[in-house]
Amino acid sequence: MHEQAQPISVLPARAVRGELAIPGDKSISHRSIMLGALAQGTSRITNFLRGEDNFSTMKAFRAMGVPIEDDGQTIIVHGVGLHGLKEPGDVLDCGNSGTTIRLMTGLLSGQSFFSVLTGDQYLRKRPMKRVVEPLARMGARIAGRGGGTLAPLAITGGNLTGIDYQSPIASAQVKSALMLAGLYASGETRVTEPSLSRDHSERMFTFFGADLDRSSHGVTVRGGRELQGQEICVPGDISSAAFFLVAALIVPGSELLIRNVGVNPTRTGVIDILQAMGGDITLQDQREVSGEPVADLLVRSSRLKGVEIGGDVVPRAIDEFPAICVAAAVAEGTTTIKDAKELRVKETDRIAAMAANLRIVGAGQIDETEDGMIIQGVESLSGGSVTSYGDHRIAMSLSVAALVCRHQVEIDDVACVATSFPGFYELLDRVSVR
Ligand code: S3P
Repeated sequence: MHEQAQPISVLPARAVRGELAIPGDKSISHRSIMLGALAQGTSRITNFLRGEDNFSTMKAFRAMGVPIEDDGQTIIVHGVGLHGLKEPGDVLDCGNSGTTIRLMTGLLSGQSFFSVLTGDQYLRKRPMKRVVEPLARMGARIAGRGGGTLAPLAITGGNLTGIDYQSPIASAQVKSALMLAGLYASGETRVTEPSLSRDHSERMFTFFGADLDRSSHGVTVRGGRELQGQEICVPGDISSAAFFLVAALIVPGSELLIRNVGVNPTRTGVIDILQAMGGDITLQDQREVSGEPVADLLVRSSRLKGVEIGGDVVPRAIDEFPAICVAAAVAEGTTTIKDAKELRVKETDRIAAMAANLRIVGAGQIDETEDGMIIQGVESLSGGSVTSYGDHRIAMSLSVAALVCRHQVEIDDVACVATSFPGFYELLDRVSVR
């Protein structure tokens, strides 16, 4: 949590225009540090996301004896090999980062030492049973608050056995935690999910030379094989690009070129949804970088219409729903979001937070459901004072909504934006025509 609240007022814009490159992908940045640390030899990482969540991961590995250099441009990780981590001398603080705590719980389950993971007031409320339970079945001993379901988590690792786990939720954090534990387990560790969540771990494990097989909704990891350090160029984060996609679509007279965006098909649900709403988004110069697809996105303002969103597209757009809600609020007709119960256990309850905030800024009728919401679009929004609930994506979504309000939007605290998108407000200001 940040000591000092950072309020901000965002003014309406006449258009959003120009070109920008957004920072590196958060999920890929976390994984590049983790695999780089476990590999033999050196990994060089460029376009690493310098967000607080990723620094939490970096700090944890430094605390376990991994030398990591950072000259402000390139991160150099001096890998210690699969069995080279050292017992940390203190509790590892994951800050606000769900990816850090859940993936590290898997990784630390495989170590022959004791460790404790904790985080900020928001992270300590988020469910950990989803990783603790299958890891316990592999043989990990994990204690925590709430009967081992909440951080802090205390892990006594070692002696894991592979399992065949059918995950009840499509979660890349659960899948990746088990894959990391699987590197240390005897036999095979197999994870199947109801629909495919982001596959950055599968791609990066392959890139680093891990022993793994993939099927349509599953992955099998065989432990014991050493990983080899690599050069990684992290693509821009489509979750960060999403705020600019929506901004350019909803502010009339806009045209924006967003360069170097990761367009891994397990992440492009937001593009599919916005295009189905009538959004004019074109992928240009599609290419592959460090095993991940990348493109430039050209977006022009469009008359959006309401759509029904549910099923397999939901995990492919899971972090973009706050931004999608803003698009829906000014679209013609009704947008229905379902199968998105996971939104209730993100950095905050994103269904409740977006419903409350959109009502404040003058949206039409909004009905919350258990696993989504129903949004009636209106022509324009008015403005008002909203709260971020300490959630970076709520803060950035309301900042985008402000561009199409008649008056300014005051947000109580945007310090949280630094967890995933340092420099967001400078970029928003640069492309906003006022
Ligand atoms: C992430 C997975 C998703 C996502 C989060 C990052 C990852 O979480 O919401 O922002 O890097 O694996 P879940 O696994 O809980 O769906």
